Amino acid sequence: KENFQVAIDGPAAAGKSTVAKKVAQICSFIYIDTGAMYRALTFKALEEKVDLTDGQKLKSILDSAIIKLKPTKNGQRVILDGEDVSEVIRYQNVTNAVSLVSSHREVRKEMVLRQRNLAKNTGVVMDGRDIGTHVLPDADVKIFLRASVEERALRRYKELMAKNILAVSLEKLQEEIALRDKKDSEREVSPLVKAEDAIEIDTTSLSIEDVVDRILALVKERQ
Ligand code: C5P
Repeated sequence: KENFQVAIDGPAAAGKSTVAKKVAQICSFIYIDTGAMYRALTFKALEEKVDLTDGQKLKSILDSAIIKLKPTKNGQRVILDGEDVSEVIRYQNVTNAVSLVSSHREVRKEMVLRQRNLAKNTGVVMDGRDIGTHVLPDADVKIFLRASVEERALRRYKELMAKNILAVSLEKLQEEIALRDKKDSEREVSPLVKAEDAIEIDTTSLSIEDVVDRILALVKERQ
């Protein structure tokens, strides 16, 4: 099948992107990080000092934004209007504003169009919050990753430390993650929820390799 689809959803810092990248690499599928697209828009909106409660204004900013996900050897770069924003979109100011930006119906509608377009005619692993429920409802494999909030905060803490962009304590990070999950789960438009037909994997005590292997087995079975 030439356009095999793997949808990976779950709360913040559950390991979605790490696992998705590896599965994509092994299967020679394209990896699409939809969170990066919402982050890129948030970055642009903050730069332009736009009112983040104004969905229409955000949509017009998005209409003029060219967001490219450029595949690299071990992941992808995020290019916004020709500029590499891969690092800056991970900063705290963007992270803490992205749930508000992505809550707007107008914004989501356009993002979903773009995401479906990216998945046309090619095998994809797409990760996000609404991929299995909304963006790719007919995906061949749907995964919902979970992990305790303590474990997720710890993983993100280590990751940010390694990248040298850590600006908060572990405790604060855990609070921020919990708050982002709450906002993403309680929003009106395509909230974070497990698709009925998604396979749930609790990664709290699993290694990355364990999770990747389980997903690869499902891909093989359905390919
Ligand atoms: O995956 P990541 O943590 O980078 O996503 C950042 C934010 O983008 C999420 O907290 C959520 O508000 C939003 N998002 C979304 N729908 C997606 C992917 C991300 O609303 N499919």
